[in-house]
Amino acid sequence: MPNILHIISSPRGDASNSIKLSEAIIERLQLNYPSAVLHTKDLTKSPFPHLEEVHLNAFLTPVEQHTEAHREAIKHSNLAIEELMNADFVVIGAPMYNFGISSTLKAWFDHVTRAGITFKYTQQGPVGLLSGKQVYLAITTGGIYSSGANVENDFLTPYLKFMLAFIGMDNVTVCRAEGFALSETRDNALEKAIGRIQI
Ligand SMILES: Cc1cc2nc3c(=O)[nH]c(=O)nc-3n(C[C@H](O)[C@H](O)[C@H](O)COP(=O)(O)O)c2cc1C
Repeated sequence: MPNILHIISSPRGDASNSIKLSEAIIERLQLNYPSAVLHTKDLTKSPFPHLEEVHLNAFLTPVEQHTEAHREAIKHSNLAIEELMNADFVVIGAPMYNFGISSTLKAWFDHVTRAGITFKYTQQGPVGLLSGKQVYLAITTGGIYSSGANVENDFLTPYLKFMLAFIGMDNVTVCRAEGFALSETRDNALEKAIGRIQI
């Protein structure tokens, strides 16, 4: 039974376009894999904190020397990594905030990108350890970034792809709904993006 992990990072609930686009992707996955089990992680309901000293100490301390404070500090990080490890498909809803990902999604990355667990350093350079997963990005933006003058201002898509590959998830399909802030594109933006989904 394949597992689908849906990561939500928009706080807009039913009004969110990245959630709607993610759900359309998930619907298609479920058509292809009817036995798939869906796990939803809403980062806006249980946000990850900025990394604090106790998190960093816990990340850098061998597990057998962990104190109760270390264990408590990284229990959500450990759970988030376990969820990723168990996933066959990962669908990430990512609204663009100020040309990059939201701080909500960035905080999640800070808690799942851990040396020795999700990546390791080797003599040949860093190696990602979360291999064998198919990732779908449901990216939503107010402007247009797929072509035209703003292409180079999209720091979200390259960053997400780089970070995912860094932890071993290099099989990434980008689904993009764009132009929600523009009167000429906003009404059809979601429909167009859903029509272009290729699973
Ligand atoms: C705080 C904030 C910052 C935003 N920054 C950008 C931006 O830099 N570029 C852009 O094209 N759209 C920007 N937008 C628009 C959102 O990316 C767009 O509305 C998107 O559809 C939101 O996704 P959601 O509907 O899933 O919440 C911003 C929206 C918010 C709320």
